[in-house]
Amino acid sequence: MSLTGKRILLIIGGGIAAYKALDFIRRVRERGASVRPVLTAAGKQFVTPLSVSSLAGMSVHEDLFSLTEEANMGHIELSRAADLVVIAPATADLIAKAANGLANDLASTLLLATDKKVLMAPAMNVRMWLHPATQRNVAQLARDGVLFAGPVDGEMACGEFGPGRMVEPLEIVAAIEKALASSTAISLAGDGPLAGRKIIITSGPTHEPIDPVRYIANRSSGKQGHAIAQAAARAGAQVILVSGPVAIPDPSGVTTHHVETARDMLDAVEAALPADIFIGAAAVADWRVDNAGAQKMKKLTSGAPTLQFTENPDILASVCARTKDRPALVVGFAAETENVIAYAQDKLVRKKCDLVIANDVSPERGVMGGSKNEVHLVSKTGVESWPLLDKDEVARRLVDTIAAHFKKGYGA
Ligand code: CTP
Repeated sequence: MSLTGKRILLIIGGGIAAYKALDFIRRVRERGASVRPVLTAAGKQFVTPLSVSSLAGMSVHEDLFSLTEEANMGHIELSRAADLVVIAPATADLIAKAANGLANDLASTLLLATDKKVLMAPAMNVRMWLHPATQRNVAQLARDGVLFAGPVDGEMACGEFGPGRMVEPLEIVAAIEKALASSTAISLAGDGPLAGRKIIITSGPTHEPIDPVRYIANRSSGKQGHAIAQAAARAGAQVILVSGPVAIPDPSGVTTHHVETARDMLDAVEAALPADIFIGAAAVADWRVDNAGAQKMKKLTSGAPTLQFTENPDILASVCARTKDRPALVVGFAAETENVIAYAQDKLVRKKCDLVIANDVSPERGVMGGSKNEVHLVSKTGVESWPLLDKDEVARRLVDTIAAHFKKGYGA
């Protein structure tokens, strides 16, 4: 595969293997790609900005707070203006920062800000590579979708032997070709377990106005619904996310529609149909204020105002009730504070969905707004309970479950 026209953002970390990054730049440019180099402070101890920029034919980015760089190309733009981000050598420190989402220098900030695939070529001492902390970080990054080339076994500059040696530049080039080939496939047709499937997901709370400045809301953060959208996109699905007001970023590779009220959410869902799968993860407000004021309500001498409520449309139930284009699989959520399983079973039957994900959202559980969730999968064939997991992990498992059951029909 030719790399003609491809743009590689190369982060060079601090390690003896940094000298190989120079040859790597040559090899990539020979194949028609451009390389925009970023040098970490430690990287600068091993290769000079002058040699890197001479080989890349571009100036080197080094500083997060450089005014000239920010004026020409800010770090967000830098992180996006590439087809692939490559880190070579990827040191234990860079790996640890990326695994934990730190952003305290240019390299780590770029890794957190990018919406592109990331390929790491680790290089470090064998003990550092085998240390449980590094292995934990690498496993986390792999779960996040980061790709790795190497390391390989070999004698190291420090004299020890074992895994930790950076792969040769041409092997990184081969890994780049593979990564870019598969990302092209995903954007065209998808190659994951949900490739070719269209999923609509609702997420977050809804806001129901009382007057132009006040509203009724709930504590949903949208973290679980957004994580499902992200996991489904990674599994190759075409994902439409209909999100209520949340304080978290839109998932990458997902079409996100932002709405405020339950009625807006229903409209956006109906506009996005038909779909193969619908997942109602939003905490939709059950009621809206019937007598919402057109102007800001003022304090009255006669006492506090009385709000009248009307029931909102039930989005999940209305998707299930569609005759011509009901999605083949409809998944609801049941956020409860008591009788979790029984209420979920009732919702399964009442709303006519195929699967209900039940969870206990009592305040002491810390689920609403928190990063963890303990769920029970309730279908007409029974209940499957999962342990307390990160919401990202719940999302991944749910996507796997849906992919596995989709063809035969959940609970069939
Ligand atoms: N839901 C919906 N539209 C609504 C209310 C709920 O789509 N107006 C969906 C939620 O997204 C979730 C499921 O229905 O997938 C259950 O939501 P929940 O609020 O727990 O259920 P309710 O219908 O409000 O039932 P109850 O008041 O009995 O808890």
